[in-house]
Amino acid sequence: MLSYVLSSSSVFISSKAYTAGPSTEAQPVSPLQCHDGDPPYYCYVDWSGKAFTVHWSGDVDHPDLSRFPVVDNASVKAVETSSDIALLWAASTPVDFGAQACVRCTHEEPFPIIKLAPFSERGCAMMKHEFEILGQMSKYDLPIPKFSPEPLIDADGLYGYRMEALERTTTSKWGSYAPEIKLLVERMHQQGFAHGDLLPNNAMKNQQGDLVLIDFTFSGVLGTAIPDHIPREVFHSDVFHAQADEDMLRLFYVGTPTTPPLVDNELYRHG
Ligand SMILES: Nc1ncnc2c1ncn2[C@@H]1O[C@H](COP(=O)(O)OP(=O)(O)O)[C@@H](O)[C@H]1O
Ligand SMILES: [Mg+2]
Repeated sequence: MLSYVLSSSSVFISSKAYTAGPSTEAQPVSPLQCHDGDPPYYCYVDWSGKAFTVHWSGDVDHPDLSRFPVVDNASVKAVETSSDIALLWAASTPVDFGAQACVRCTHEEPFPIIKLAPFSERGCAMMKHEFEILGQMSKYDLPIPKFSPEPLIDADGLYGYRMEALERTTTSKWGSYAPEIKLLVERMHQQGFAHGDLLPNNAMKNQQGDLVLIDFTFSGVLGTAIPDHIPREVFHSDVFHAQADEDMLRLFYVGTPTTPPLVDNELYRHG
């Protein structure tokens, strides 16, 4: 059930909007993953607050999960996690996911949303980088989410962090957000940061109705060395620079407030 809190300039979907208590319906919590093995496809699935992998072959669409954990023509495996991660999964519900992370809601104010690394060393390295750069950005007046300074850690190190609940911006409104997004990115650059992943779904609204940028996996301090986890094609360089952001802005936000973005952002739903 959805609950709404009215804010000054928009209808804000509060963290209570994300289903309280584990859902018994299995749902994918990662994009399709391909690997060299057989079967070639897999994705992560949440079922009653537990993490599973589903491996399959043939059609790229994931198989029917309605009778989970029974899935025809697929193999289902529970993911082995630390007890800290298992407890956090059990106490939270899926909100969304991107290419680099799984986002869940714990309903614990003031930071009900948790962003968790994929179950891999590389995923945790990326999350550590994101958390560190957020810490640096938070020293300035920048359009970023409010987040807990206490990261989520287990015996293997940092695997996520907590932040405020934000509202999605809708595809149809992108045109009108363009000028503001440009200003936000300029502010980032002026304070010495590159964002690195300016896809439309990486801007959201906070409870005050202000736009904030999210997803700092590929962000960094301008002029400093780019860590190995960031794909070469993001910056085509050894150091963080502003041009990659400018190029993304041009791709998505060119035009007047009434002009739709050049690229259908549904294609980039999980960027
Ligand atoms: N604070 C938040 N409140 C609500 N939803 C969020 C929040 N942060 C992220 N999300 C949702 O999770 C998705 C993935 O988060 P994101 O940080 O972009 O991860 P990724 O690095 O995998 O792209 C976002 O597109 C958004 O829909
Ligand atoms: Mg994203």
